[in-house]
Amino acid sequence: MPSATTESQPVDAQAAPGKIDFDDYSASYDTLLHESTKLYAEDSEYFARYKVDLIKEATRHPVRRVLEYGCGTGRNIAYLQTAFPDAEIVGTDVSAVSLEVAATANPKARFEIEREGMALGAFDLIFVASVFHHIPPLERPTVMRTLAGRLAPGGSIDIFEHNPFNPVTRRIVSTCPFDADAVLLKPAELRALFQSAGLKLTRQVYCLFVPPKLSWLMPLEKHLRWLPLGGQYWISASQVR
Ligand SMILES: C[S@@+](CC[C@H](N)C(=O)[O-])C[C@H]1O[C@@H](n2cnc3c(N)ncnc32)[C@H](O)[C@@H]1O
Repeated sequence: MPSATTESQPVDAQAAPGKIDFDDYSASYDTLLHESTKLYAEDSEYFARYKVDLIKEATRHPVRRVLEYGCGTGRNIAYLQTAFPDAEIVGTDVSAVSLEVAATANPKARFEIEREGMALGAFDLIFVASVFHHIPPLERPTVMRTLAGRLAPGGSIDIFEHNPFNPVTRRIVSTCPFDADAVLLKPAELRALFQSAGLKLTRQVYCLFVPPKLSWLMPLEKHLRWLPLGGQYWISASQVR
């Protein structure tokens, strides 16, 4: 059942400890992710495949350039490359060591250290997975404005975040070492961030309900998108025309 938090309040916003440096986790990231999520999915690649499959199925506009903001060790990059084979794929992150891992595993993609004001050009698709809860709340509006500024006309920004209404998600986050700085966002906060950056919301759904071992129940997922109990949620936005 949903926790006692409500849509209108930030989640643990006062409780953010020092920011995690993902350089320290680039070697252990896969193992820690697997340890944290193995009860849900034995294969932690599942999460990357699942999200990119959703994006691919939903994307109707031409995609020539894709940015994964906060790509970490590049776990989603190969799936993005397969989903959008003709697109240039660019990954950025603040963790230089994670980007080295990503670049070794994905020689065809381009990786850049994330720096404010850097010129990367415009993207048709900006994909962001499990990053915003690591960005201190006061910095989030600036990051969202930066992303909005990188969006090509007709493009979309797709953000996946942990669902704070799901108690299992909260439990996973509270025990995962690299989530020690996590300040989860409710969908309302993410929607407000999109809107304050001048973007138009095009989708909000909950996802990751059915564990892969119950794959025969997967067809049910599309009927549950409204239910605030998925492991994560996905919000998309585009420029106002
Ligand atoms: C939980 S990992 C997710 C990595 C990847 N998106 C994935 O799905 O596997 C969070 C990533 O966000 C990055 N990150 C945190 N703050 C960031 C910021 N302000 N800008 C860009 N990346 C950031 C971290 O360095 C880390 O690599």
